[in-house]
Amino acid sequence: MSTSESHGNIESHLHETRHFAPPEEFARQANIGSEEQYQAMCTRAAEDPAGFWGEIALDNLTWSKPFDSAMQGDMPDTKWFVGGEINASVQCLDRHLTTWRKNKAAIIWEGEPGDKRVLTYQELHRQVCKFSNVLKQLGVGKGDRVTLYMPMIPELAIAMLACARVGATHSIIFGGFSADAVAERNNDAQAKLVITADGGWRRGSEILLKKAVDESLDKSPTIEKVVVVKRINYPHVKMVPDRDYWWHDLMEGQPGEFEAEPVDSEHPLFILYTSGSTGKPKGVQHSTAGYMLGAMMTTKWTFDIKEEDTYWCTADIGWITGHSYIVYGPLANGATTLMYEGAPNWPDEGRFWSIVEAYKVNTFYTAPTAIRAFIKWGDQWPKQHDLSSLRLLGTVGEPINPQAWMWYHEVIGDEKCPIVDTWWQTETGGHMLAPLPGIQTTTPGSCTRPLPGVVADVVDEQGNSLGPNEGGLLVIKQPWPHMLRTLWNDHDRFLDTYFSKLPGMYFAGDGARKDEDGNFWVMGRVDDVLNVSGHRLSTMEVESALVSHDDVAEAAVVGFPHELKGEGICCFVTLKGDAAAPAALEDELKKHVRSQIGAIATPDQIRFTVAVPKTRSGKIMRRLLRDIAAGRETVGDTTTLEDYSVLMKLRGGEEKEG
Ligand code: WTA
Repeated sequence: MSTSESHGNIESHLHETRHFAPPEEFARQANIGSEEQYQAMCTRAAEDPAGFWGEIALDNLTWSKPFDSAMQGDMPDTKWFVGGEINASVQCLDRHLTTWRKNKAAIIWEGEPGDKRVLTYQELHRQVCKFSNVLKQLGVGKGDRVTLYMPMIPELAIAMLACARVGATHSIIFGGFSADAVAERNNDAQAKLVITADGGWRRGSEILLKKAVDESLDKSPTIEKVVVVKRINYPHVKMVPDRDYWWHDLMEGQPGEFEAEPVDSEHPLFILYTSGSTGKPKGVQHSTAGYMLGAMMTTKWTFDIKEEDTYWCTADIGWITGHSYIVYGPLANGATTLMYEGAPNWPDEGRFWSIVEAYKVNTFYTAPTAIRAFIKWGDQWPKQHDLSSLRLLGTVGEPINPQAWMWYHEVIGDEKCPIVDTWWQTETGGHMLAPLPGIQTTTPGSCTRPLPGVVADVVDEQGNSLGPNEGGLLVIKQPWPHMLRTLWNDHDRFLDTYFSKLPGMYFAGDGARKDEDGNFWVMGRVDDVLNVSGHRLSTMEVESALVSHDDVAEAAVVGFPHELKGEGICCFVTLKGDAAAPAALEDELKKHVRSQIGAIATPDQIRFTVAVPKTRSGKIMRRLLRDIAAGRETVGDTTTLEDYSVLMKLRGGEEKEG
């Protein structure tokens, strides 16, 4: 992996001088309310991580069996809360039922067509127990993997919590992924059961999930059974006898109680596939106790969650953000979490703001790519709605450009809501660098400082700490409870990806700098991972999809700056033979990539070319291609280029542009 090539596609934040102190009123009521408290927590955590996290774990989690030691071993193979037993669904449900929260709204849900449901903690518990009984009846329990490929409906949260309750490990696949992607993940996880729906709504269209599952099953032999939620009343669902079951049929008559199965602290709560720098997705494996603690505490600290809050994270549960900050984090805190099924611009561009107004949302968490779309759609949409209930705003997924930050602050936050720019990853399980909203002065574009218990730094290629404003690699130097434990079935890749480059440190794959005040500025990936609308995608994944097309000889894929998506996908393609590309081929290749990976991977540009520039040792020169895709002057060394004429042709526009 080359880390010397920066994507160089984000605004330079070097001259950002606007600072925003927390509003006094907010600071007074914050969960972490003083700089001294923060400093004391950081010092304690650095000196005695086991003591720091051990106490927090005893105070905040409900243990079936208390742990013997809070932490054992160094990174990367640290074990947390050793000897303890716990169940994640108990953290999210049972313990709230003995309090007044039993009739509090746990999930407020709105479907895209406008249908609504509210599940109190008691009702959610009942549904989870019923579905746990279903799982048991289907022979699913501790040690099994279950694939969830579902729309954003309450049944998804119910299925997750039921898997946790019976001790099965869930593997959620975002509903935008293709049948092939589902099959690949089913096989890697050796999943036994798929839970899906006939379909879901997205921008007024039906997304036919069961149909994709049917296709995937031809290629995933480990799947024995499929449970299907009826969401859109699609009339042509094919139900295979003794394999496919309707959710509502299975739930009928099930008891509303199910004793939660205590599992070991380190038991895998879930696997979540994410893109790495090779074509094969990585199954990031999270633990039960450490992950739950991280999700719970970061929700409390970063979002300053309060009992009476209506909290809304707009992510899809198919991504880590939805796992930690729609389901596990808020529910562990006994909070009210809002869940919305569909698109932000359906039936019109004011949909999100009408939801904020209708439910008096207090905390709103979204992605920079969404904010850029809101800006483009125009201020008239948020201005039509009363957003005065908002008290805190959050962002995640990619570096936020200061212009988007300022718009968010002024138009959505009315200049009174702190903005928490949260840096973290699928692998980190929860927020790592983020402002504590009651104490941290923020600056547009900076995710500010490490949360308590996180020891982060910016280092050079040899692992030496860098000085203020020197750009380098973002690392974490001390284990934390919610870190990934391994990559499913591939511990070597886990060690290699995160711990081999800089021994003893977790290598995040991001470039960053720290300013003179100790605030971090994350600059984007330093590997071959693209960040398209906040979604991770490997260039190689897209390249292998392209070369699987009959006409394609070779493909090289790079990102380029994209106004809305952050990064767009540009594909350089050489065809077999020397026939000119037929006009329809560009569209066909876009569709082909979509069908291989999913809609998020749809190329923005296909450029047909006679050859792809390579070094003499045969490596694709991505830096050059990135410059060309971005329309920049080609900079840097081209002396290793195998055939200089290839570059000249690409730059001179002689390539056959699609
Ligand atoms: C990027 C999403 C800058 C980063 C939670 C990281 C960010 C990758 C931020 C992880 C942020 C996420 N500022 N960059 N606030 N948040 N990233 O696994 O490149 O989908 O490595 O997790 O997103 O993406 P993932």
